[in-house]
Amino acid sequence: MNQQQIDSLKEALKFSPDNFHLRRMLAEALQNLARYEEAIVEFKETLRISPNDNSLKINLATCYYHQQNLGTAQFLLEEILDQESNPEAHAILAKTLLKLEDLKQAKRHYDQAVKLNKNLQDLDFEDIMNKKIRESGLAIGNVVADDDLDSLLSDADIEKSKIAFKDVGGLENIKEEIALKVIHPLKNPEIYKAFGKKIGGGILLYGPPGCGKTLLARATAGEINANFISIGLTEVLDMWVGNSEKNLHEIFQNARKNAPCVLFFDEVDALGASRTDMRQATGRFLINQFLDELDGVKYSNEGILILGATNTPWYLDTAFRRPGRFDRVIFVSPPDRVAREEILTLQLAEKPTENIDIQSIVKLTEEYSGADLKAVVDLAIEAKLPESLKQGRIIPITNSDLKNAINRHRPTTKEWFSTAKNYALYSNESGLYDDILKYLKLK
Ligand SMILES: Nc1ncnc2c1ncn2[C@@H]1O[C@H](COP(=O)(O)OP(=O)(O)O)[C@@H](O)[C@H]1O
Ligand SMILES: [Mg+2]
Repeated sequence: MNQQQIDSLKEALKFSPDNFHLRRMLAEALQNLARYEEAIVEFKETLRISPNDNSLKINLATCYYHQQNLGTAQFLLEEILDQESNPEAHAILAKTLLKLEDLKQAKRHYDQAVKLNKNLQDLDFEDIMNKKIRESGLAIGNVVADDDLDSLLSDADIEKSKIAFKDVGGLENIKEEIALKVIHPLKNPEIYKAFGKKIGGGILLYGPPGCGKTLLARATAGEINANFISIGLTEVLDMWVGNSEKNLHEIFQNARKNAPCVLFFDEVDALGASRTDMRQATGRFLINQFLDELDGVKYSNEGILILGATNTPWYLDTAFRRPGRFDRVIFVSPPDRVAREEILTLQLAEKPTENIDIQSIVKLTEEYSGADLKAVVDLAIEAKLPESLKQGRIIPITNSDLKNAINRHRPTTKEWFSTAKNYALYSNESGLYDDILKYLKLK
């Protein structure tokens, strides 16, 4: 909503000051524009008209939160939670408590929010919260043994994934391959043991950004109801430089303790041998330790699936690909027609739509990644908001909204292929990148 629309709302309210609907629209528009002070005034007015509306109170608390008036936000939210277990209230209270450095309660409310509504999962927030929990643990050290905090710390990185394969569009071959390698073995361990097959091992996913590598890793954990530990390797490197106590070995030990477990290393290329910081002695040391842990000789990796993801596999030390390490290297391609249809259907589910012809959209989105498709849908929704607000009712997204959005958002995978093509053509040792060539119809 722009200033002009806000002005006309205000004008309308002059004539019917107790119009709940208009007042709430104005309040929410101001909140969306980060004009919290004005939004607070309007939300309070709206609450005067409808004093028991908890969703309004949550909005009001959210404005206070953004204004750093944390005490008031906390007060309002706790009042709501005394009456009902409201997931949104839990979520925003978690954020408030994190700012107030009450880590334990923040985690409790966040977990509750996600338990009640998985859409409230916020990975960025989790990262920040878990980092703080770890840091506070280090700061407390051995001086005070706080049992609660200890247990919180050891669980900090572990989650149960709430998404499964059905939430990932397309990629059927890869799902099947992962199923063969880990899901069946974990479900039927006796059969595999009888054939002398080890359970576990490593799979490296690579491909252009936004095509579902991270999503697939999470879904794998959800599919087998295994624990999921996600490690950003840049994070490990930082810890290493900071000489943190929590090193790679502890990460692996944590996974072993929590088997069956999916241990996921995102941006595994951070360990690339060709990166200058990795050529130094400490870098080499870290790579060797990582390889040792992957080999699982000293400590068994039974029941742990190690997944790695990278957009730049060519930077990864070849030692990682030896048998018993990341011995399967899988190309996660941009979605084909069927996959795009699935992804668009997933993205449009529960959104107001009208006369959407998915096939026509599928045809226009060759080379679009899953993330690109999500961006297209988001753009179409954004374009529809002002009109909906103006008319005070929800106006559904149409096919032409999606087409306009496609014109405004170009596919992001092209750039990746122009680099990848060179590696596939000129350093394709043992056919490693054959799948890229096939995708580009060069083979
Ligand atoms: N195959 C897919 N099915 C459903 N959504 C997808 C798919 N690929 C990408 N997305 C959407 O794009 C977002 C980014 O994907 P992500 O898994 O982080 O990509 P990558 O790790 O390959 O860079 C996902 O969170 C999801 O919303
Ligand atoms: Mg990713």
